[in-house]
Amino acid sequence: MAGLAVLASGSGSNFEAIAGQLKKSAHKVVCLICDRKDAYAFTRAEKYGIPSYFVGYKNRTRGEAETEIASILTAHNTDLIALAGFMRLLTPELIDRFPGRIINIHPSLLPKYPGTHGIIESFESEDRELGITIHRVDYGLDTGPVIVQKSFTRGGNETLEQIEKKIHELEHQSYPAVLLDILDEI
Ligand code: GAR
Repeated sequence: MAGLAVLASGSGSNFEAIAGQLKKSAHKVVCLICDRKDAYAFTRAEKYGIPSYFVGYKNRTRGEAETEIASILTAHNTDLIALAGFMRLLTPELIDRFPGRIINIHPSLLPKYPGTHGIIESFESEDRELGITIHRVDYGLDTGPVIVQKSFTRGGNETLEQIEKKIHELEHQSYPAVLLDILDEI
């Protein structure tokens, strides 16, 4: 059994997909950490009985917030960290505490459209091939060695909502499977 901690900022649909798949595995989601008090991810954590923590960044340095994050991770014997819509950059200090053990998902074919608007920037582009990227985290914004990319070809007449749905479906299928493979190797 290896322990996975998930960091999220918002809805937590990826967190829920991960929690659902890991429940059926030998591994465990040991905790959820959110930097937003109102994150819907908290409701999902409750449903799965997963311990969840709010860590605020307001009126403190990123390093101070991360000291709190690190102590939660340690208390839960975290082996692997999954960023699932966690909309903050981690400091090199935290990244170096988990070398190669922090994974991120992003809703575009990186290096295209990093940042917080991956879906809309993909949608508004001229690209026919859209998709998602799962990668190991380094010090950059949505950079680091790619583990897998999944893509699809759009027809051109889809709405933003349809593209968004397709991207989330790909994420929910791929992210738990990739994380399970990594957890199996730990
Ligand atoms: C996901 O689409 C994820 O790829 C994206 O945030 C969304 C979170 O959705 N992450 C990034 O944009 C990272 N730069 P969720 O809260 O429903 O899982």
